Amino acid sequence: MDKMIGVIGGSGVYEIDGLEQAEWTEVETPFGAPSDQILTGVLNGTRMAFLPRHGRGHVHTPSTVPYRANIFAMKVLGVTDLVAVSAVGSLKEAYAPGDFVIIDQYIDRTFAREKTFFGPGLVGHVPFAHPICPVLAEACAQAARMTGVTVHQGGTYVAMEGPQFSTLAESRLYRSWGADVIGMTGMPEAKLAREAELCYACVAMVTDYDCWHPGHDAVDVAQVVAVAVKNAGKARSLVASLPELLAGPKTDCTAGCGHALDSAIMTAPA
Ligand code: ADE
Repeated sequence: MDKMIGVIGGSGVYEIDGLEQAEWTEVETPFGAPSDQILTGVLNGTRMAFLPRHGRGHVHTPSTVPYRANIFAMKVLGVTDLVAVSAVGSLKEAYAPGDFVIIDQYIDRTFAREKTFFGPGLVGHVPFAHPICPVLAEACAQAARMTGVTVHQGGTYVAMEGPQFSTLAESRLYRSWGADVIGMTGMPEAKLAREAELCYACVAMVTDYDCWHPGHDAVDVAQVVAVAVKNAGKARSLVASLPELLAGPKTDCTAGCGHALDSAIMTAPA
């Protein structure tokens, strides 16, 4: 099978540099329209698909991003490896604004989103102890290091509902849980990618220290946007190195992301 790399970009990342045969494509899904048209093309011989998570013009809130349509659209276009790029706040002194974190775990605190492709009539439970594809995460870490940015390999992402930022008590609570970063869009994207049997990794770009840090002002949008824009070039060059680092046909990854449904379905065949 051919590899196809999908990228879902967050705040600050709205395109892929050097993409050939670039074309914005409308995709309809049983879950409605994705956040925007999807930019497809070829980069260094590898097919790519790019979707701005909030839509061009940033029109979807974290709660109204059509996560199911986005993942479904990537799957039907033929994406095999999906990389999420997301702005996050840091819950840890060592993860400074400007750093990139290659996420390996999540705590899902979102509550107002559709989180599964299953439903009445078809019940399934995919394994999710290890939510990230280690092979894709390793490629993302290498690609991130190549940009010269400080990279932390491994981090627990708290996904909050938002859209308001956290209170000080919440921020302190998440720190006491040992979480490393906080964002509003990591879930249910990662869960749906697993149900779609995609290899999925998340590159979190730290934009702020949330509100817990005594030496920093509480986070605001201006701060997030300023750091995201400053880092967008690095995020784009990370994406540009992925085809070379992931070269070759798609094979089963060591974590079995492509077989998540093998023993997941509970409903008896009709
Ligand atoms: N995205 C960027 N910074 C954030 C923060 N501090 N909390 C939640 N989402 C964020």
